[in-house]
Amino acid sequence: MKKLWGGRFQKTPEQWVDEFGASIHFDKELVEEDITGSLAHVKMLGKCGIISKEEAEQITAGLNTLLTRAKNNELTFSVSYEDIHLNIEKLLIDEIGPVGGKLHTGRSRNDQVATDMHLYLRNHVLAITEYIEELQKTIVDKAEEHVETILPGYTHLQRAQPISFAHHLLAYFWMLERDKQRFLESVKRINISPLGSGALAGTTFPIDRSFTAKELEFDGIYENSLDGVSDRDFIIEFLSNSSLMMMHLSRFCEEIILWCSQEFQFIELDDAYATGSSIMPQKKNPDMAELIRGKTGRVYGNLVSLLTILKGLPLAYNKDLQEDKEGMFDTVKTVEGSLQIFVGMISTLKVNEEKMEQATKEDFSNATELADYLSKKGMPFREAHEVVGTLVYQCIQKGIYLKDLSLESYKEASELFEEDLFIVIDPYEAVRKRNSQGGTGFEMVKVALEKAKQALS
Ligand code: ARG
Repeated sequence: MKKLWGGRFQKTPEQWVDEFGASIHFDKELVEEDITGSLAHVKMLGKCGIISKEEAEQITAGLNTLLTRAKNNELTFSVSYEDIHLNIEKLLIDEIGPVGGKLHTGRSRNDQVATDMHLYLRNHVLAITEYIEELQKTIVDKAEEHVETILPGYTHLQRAQPISFAHHLLAYFWMLERDKQRFLESVKRINISPLGSGALAGTTFPIDRSFTAKELEFDGIYENSLDGVSDRDFIIEFLSNSSLMMMHLSRFCEEIILWCSQEFQFIELDDAYATGSSIMPQKKNPDMAELIRGKTGRVYGNLVSLLTILKGLPLAYNKDLQEDKEGMFDTVKTVEGSLQIFVGMISTLKVNEEKMEQATKEDFSNATELADYLSKKGMPFREAHEVVGTLVYQCIQKGIYLKDLSLESYKEASELFEEDLFIVIDPYEAVRKRNSQGGTGFEMVKVALEKAKQALS
């Protein structure tokens, strides 16, 4: 098949070479952005008198027809036209005749493809921040039900100090808040127009870059045409923000997976977010959480891949850059999917309050309480730590917990102990009273819930 650049060539490549070089099988994802960019470009060409008013109108009508057909999934593309840009140009010429060939005046695929991706990412990043917010709301709702549900907090995956389940959930709320802010801040770097950079050096046609930028609702234009066509920072930044966010989701997944194990039994996932085993009838596996944890690796891969593609790439456009798209599309799909699944998984999960609370009673996570008790009575904290450590050791020897030791045993360890120590070591009391700023005390958690809601409004 004759190429759109046929003039310079004596031979056409073999089909398999065409296929290797083509991007149409994935960049067709950009079809609407591509046509939208062209509509702005042709309007500018007409306005600046680079093509006639009639020509601009004909091309605009043709592009609009293609846009409608694209939305209805009625366009067919061919590998022989390599990518979405050449396919659309070919379809346009088929539709309106040779005048369609005027669309590409003063433009290159290099600024065109960059424009498409800026448009694509702008839309998806905004959609992603909405999905994040949806998840944040779900977390707040769950947290509100569980201010006074207590469970062991862990460090080193060893029971450390009891905490409120709401407090634990809200930790993820704030991680997601930072993620959302990062995505939102990135919009100012995504939302600038490379259109009019030409192949690399600008153009001799009297184009108006600000006009197309405004038409496409960009906030500004790339100041340098070489930078305009070779910059992929905005995609790397997106992949990096996505990696960070997926890392947060993945940590959450890891906890969910642990919590619904037989060993913990802190939560039960809704059947809709779990699967069974083909062989073991008793199994209920937290597949969705595992999958999101797994997909996190895939998003990191996309980030590292693009960083590596760009490293050592000379200015300006190089075909290597065609490799920027699949990772971007894949990440958008993965991030949007993971967030949506998460909303469903969290809103439907059942919390086993008894199991959580029981766990705080069968451990030594109240030991700090006891050390604080002694130091509030004047014993240096380091000494108090030693005294309580010895008591814990005694308990372990006897197979009991701190609440089971007699007051006499306590008195033997230190005269400072009184009957009220038994209230102090009650885990519920321990959580209730931790009302330092940002702490897990019930009053503080209620304040935190209000702050979270404010962050959302
Ligand atoms: N399909 C190409 C890409 O995605 C479009 C730009 C091609 N430009 C060129 N000079 N070959 O990068």
